Amino acid sequence: MPPGNLGFHSLREERACDLRVEGEVPGWLSGSLLRNGPGAFEMGEAAVDHWFDGLAMLHRFTFGDDGVAYRNRFLRTDAYAAARAGRFDGGFATGEAGLLARLKRFLLDDPYDNANVIADRIGGEYLALTETPRWVAFDPETLTTRGHVRYDGDAPTGQLACAHLNRDPDGRAVNFETRFGRTNYYHVYEMTDPRNRTPVASVPVDEPAYMHSFGLTPNYVVLTEFPFVVDPLDFFKPGTRGPFVQHYEWKPDRGTRFLVIDRTAGEVVADPRTDAFFGFHHANAYEDGDVLVVDLETVPGAASIETLYIDRLRAGDLDVFGGRLERFRVDPAAGTVDRRTVYEGGTALPTVSPARWCRRHRYVYAQGTEQPVTEWPQRVVKIDVETGRVVEFADGDNHFGEPLFVPRPGGDAEDDGVVLTVMLDVAAEHSWLVVLDGQSFDERARAAVPHAIPFDFHGRFFPELVP
Ligand SMILES: [Fe+2]
Repeated sequence: MPPGNLGFHSLREERACDLRVEGEVPGWLSGSLLRNGPGAFEMGEAAVDHWFDGLAMLHRFTFGDDGVAYRNRFLRTDAYAAARAGRFDGGFATGEAGLLARLKRFLLDDPYDNANVIADRIGGEYLALTETPRWVAFDPETLTTRGHVRYDGDAPTGQLACAHLNRDPDGRAVNFETRFGRTNYYHVYEMTDPRNRTPVASVPVDEPAYMHSFGLTPNYVVLTEFPFVVDPLDFFKPGTRGPFVQHYEWKPDRGTRFLVIDRTAGEVVADPRTDAFFGFHHANAYEDGDVLVVDLETVPGAASIETLYIDRLRAGDLDVFGGRLERFRVDPAAGTVDRRTVYEGGTALPTVSPARWCRRHRYVYAQGTEQPVTEWPQRVVKIDVETGRVVEFADGDNHFGEPLFVPRPGGDAEDDGVVLTVMLDVAAEHSWLVVLDGQSFDERARAAVPHAIPFDFHGRFFPELVP
């Protein structure tokens, strides 16, 4: 396998070990980075077709006085058991029946549980999340799978979840689910505990859009409704087959709509449209007076999903438009939205300091790519959205994952802290956990992981998970 494709290999081993560290990890850094992503694309006779469908694997990097410890483990899900038995039941873009069939049988069956998008904590529970409302709980120390968590209260629910919940400054988690039925809805809710929901709003919609994340401010929920939509009648027609995502259609004439939901009133207060675009990740949102500022990574259309099939990725056939960080200013009173590019370069997986979620931020961190993308990201970038200044970190041909900022406890400046990112060393054929200085973006330390971690999706840093 060419080294550049090592990020798409199937990692089968599960390890627990201390890591050899080069450089110096700041003494204040204490806690654990938990990351989630596809660990394997083949298992026995079973194989998946799409990067998004790799079997969920958790990785834990723990920082303490004795250095950096590492552990990785597959989630023991129904999807994992099925794959071990030589069967892959399907997911986002793999399988003839898969998620779609499971959506149809939703009330009678257990939805797809390959929760490989992110690891998060809701209330006291650590959960692996994906786009079905069936979460997988795990032990944050051992990464052992504890079982499924399903909400079964009275709040309205949907068959499709948004993979990325948001957290407001009061610590409440906010998310939405899409309900397919005679009338379709986006059901928005808040929770402080996975088994307790407070409904915020239910928005009827003709053709639900595929939305992987959304914007949250202290007073508003902003659903960026891309024109990548599904006709639910087609979705549920008898005999309908094929992978889930292939039922969505790109309808640029609809434009992209910003659904602004007042969290107190529980209703849509504005829904301005702009030109059609697609995107996966909101970097952050906040209120600037009466205007809502939404920083979002956009792509011109939904075609990028097609380029993320494993065969194409392994063949190095990666000619797509990279993400572009854009700023949208939504004025609910005027019913308008305006748009400007923040950074002309290609980006992927943008993040801000968790201390700035729902608040005004100055710095966005992201993987940096060429434009168009021809190589998996070979740098990480720090973008100053006020001045436009961009600082990069690269290390030869090595590839980087999502950069996450960890604030220094007691620090004042927004960028006083470190950035953690997993780097795939293509020559040495293993990964490193790299610690960058949040301000200078210089390397502070790197810790050698004993294997190559396949390119993953998202992580969170948990200060409470100490050695
Ligand atoms: Fe994501």
